[in-house]
Amino acid sequence: MTARVRPPARPAPPAIVPTNDKRFGPAYYRRFYRDAGQAVTSRMEMRARGRMIAGFVDYCEMPVRRILDAGCGLGLLRPSLKRAFPNADYVGLEASPYLCRKYGWHRGSLATWKSRHTYELAICYDVMQYLGDRDATRALANLGRLARGILYFSALTEEDWRFIADRGRTDRDVALRPADWYRARLARNFHEVGVGLWLRRGAQAVLWSLEAHGRVLARRA
Ligand SMILES: C[S@@+](CC[C@H](N)C(=O)[O-])C[C@H]1O[C@@H](n2cnc3c(N)ncnc32)[C@H](O)[C@@H]1O
Repeated sequence: MTARVRPPARPAPPAIVPTNDKRFGPAYYRRFYRDAGQAVTSRMEMRARGRMIAGFVDYCEMPVRRILDAGCGLGLLRPSLKRAFPNADYVGLEASPYLCRKYGWHRGSLATWKSRHTYELAICYDVMQYLGDRDATRALANLGRLARGILYFSALTEEDWRFIADRGRTDRDVALRPADWYRARLARNFHEVGVGLWLRRGAQAVLWSLEAHGRVLARRA
């Protein structure tokens, strides 16, 4: 999990420690979410993030029937998304057996999870740094299959670790990759809009050329 604030220089973290059932147990969520003194985010920050995502979906006039929150953790984005899209199904996908028991999330890894549905809104926030290169590549390709409209994506990157993350609070036991590593893989299926928002290639939405990176994303029918 990731907290922002420019830190003093410190040694780089280890490349990766594999995820397992014990890693994402009660102690992890106490340390990074529930302990107000050390928590890496707040309900207020997550509410603002949820409103920002919902605002963009609304602006694109995209009807949302299904929302996938991959690696949803405690489900901190759920309240604002349910408020914005009360009729949409919210699916929380989690690798943590503990959270699946506690909150009833769907259990699985984004690298391999299959669904008979696709999702007009998909979210993958602060998750991918917990996957090694191979699984992260598979998970990004899977997002291309599952997400049919808008994707909100962010993960702790090498650049974040060097320049932005508060290293005292951020989990250092992760795989750090350059932001462009993610961009290159996401760009196979999505157009980058900005602030973590991506539009699925072929999705029905209209943006002005200067509202997104590089090109007009879709034309009016
Ligand atoms: C830092 S937390 C972020 C939680 C949530 N997205 C948020 O920002 O509040 C990372 C979460 O990703 C989950 N996770 C790790 N690997 C995963 C995988 N392969 N598939 C799905 N979830 C995964 C963990 O169980 C953990 O709850």
